[in-house]
Amino acid sequence: MKRYLVTGGAGFIGSNFVHYILKKYRDVQVVNLDKLTYAGNLDNLKDLKGDKRHIFIKGDIACERDVMKAYAKGVDIVVNFAAETHVDRSIGDPSDFIKTDVQGVYCLIEEAKRLGIEKFVQISTDEVYGSIAKGSASEESPLLPSNPYSASKAGGDRLAYSYWATYKVPVIVTRASNNYGPYQYPEKFISLFVTNAIEDQQLPLYGDGKNVRDWLYVMDHCDAIDFVIGNGKDGETYNIGGGNEKENREVVDIILDALGKPRSLIRHIEDRLGHDRRYSLSIKKLRAMGWKPKMSFEKGLRETVAWYRDNGWWWKKIKSGEFRDYYTKHYAKRLSESKAR
Ligand code: NAD
Ligand code: DAU
Repeated sequence: MKRYLVTGGAGFIGSNFVHYILKKYRDVQVVNLDKLTYAGNLDNLKDLKGDKRHIFIKGDIACERDVMKAYAKGVDIVVNFAAETHVDRSIGDPSDFIKTDVQGVYCLIEEAKRLGIEKFVQISTDEVYGSIAKGSASEESPLLPSNPYSASKAGGDRLAYSYWATYKVPVIVTRASNNYGPYQYPEKFISLFVTNAIEDQQLPLYGDGKNVRDWLYVMDHCDAIDFVIGNGKDGETYNIGGGNEKENREVVDIILDALGKPRSLIRHIEDRLGHDRRYSLSIKKLRAMGWKPKMSFEKGLRETVAWYRDNGWWWKKIKSGEFRDYYTKHYAKRLSESKAR
């Protein structure tokens, strides 16, 4: 039996990964350590009730006691998703980002080293390369993070690697592009715009809307992580991209068309500070090993839009809770000063 410790498994990608692993493998145990911050949501794991292979522990990866409690359940493979993840919030207040995305990695990997675990996967991000003007970032490209979120993630990414280089802890680092799919907290671009559009609310597009992101369907991301656990080499880093580079304004148009909503919902608002223009990943390394993304952007986005349309129970609760104050604080003034496209 393989025993996983998944951290941040009540968040967007982590909960999808827990589902992926429990569905793909029969003989597994998944210990899920999550602090349940504003982004952690037990509704994401609702359908696992009664599955004894899944053990949920509420706790902080930056707290030694919580981490030891999780490892004590028995762990072979650690997959560290736990992080503060929203760039806009990191611009407002970076402190939790440094605590979780750097100090948390330290706490989690120290214990992994002490126990001699079999594999430690650090989930990093393409944002560590910074904005890419031309071409695509390979795993050898320099790290030039440019906001407090990506700088903290770069710290965690290299700290994890240092435990391989220095102590031979079997670390693998993955750097993925922008994920989309079910259970994404509705503060992120696609989940926010889809749910706003469903409710005929304005869509707050930053700046000129020409920033480019590469979109990766969340289950393709989970599949790639599973693939590198089985086929990757310790001490290596793997880019995971979807091969779907799009300007934000193109994505908005697809969302509106899928929902049959008018372009007049789009509002151009004041830009994000230090907004990275373009992310782009080369995934030659993973392709050469035999992995590639399976989901096309058109189909993935259609299915995602349908999921949010059919699962209002999931996001309406969030949008009428913590999120409402955040939204007002972050967007109200900018929206009132905005212009229609
Ligand atoms: P998310 O914000 O949806 O979820 C984060 C989860 O981590 C939440 O459940 C939260 O409660 C938990 N958490 C936060 N601080 C914690 C702590 N100190 N201890 C324990 N749990 C804690 O994030 P996501 O979008 O699912 O991202 C997951 C990981 O993937 C992150 O490491 C992120 O940097 C990385 N990543 C995300 C994307 C993306 O597009 N979303 C792309 C590439 C990489
Ligand atoms: O690239 C991977 C990263 O993708 C992950 O590491 C991060 O955790 C994740 O949050 C995401 O970061 P981005 O900043 O790229 O994602 P976000 O959804 O916040 O924004 C995507 C694009 O949409 C970006 O160009 C900003 C723009 N945007 C976003 C929001 C929330 C808007 O125009 N309006 C908005 O309201």
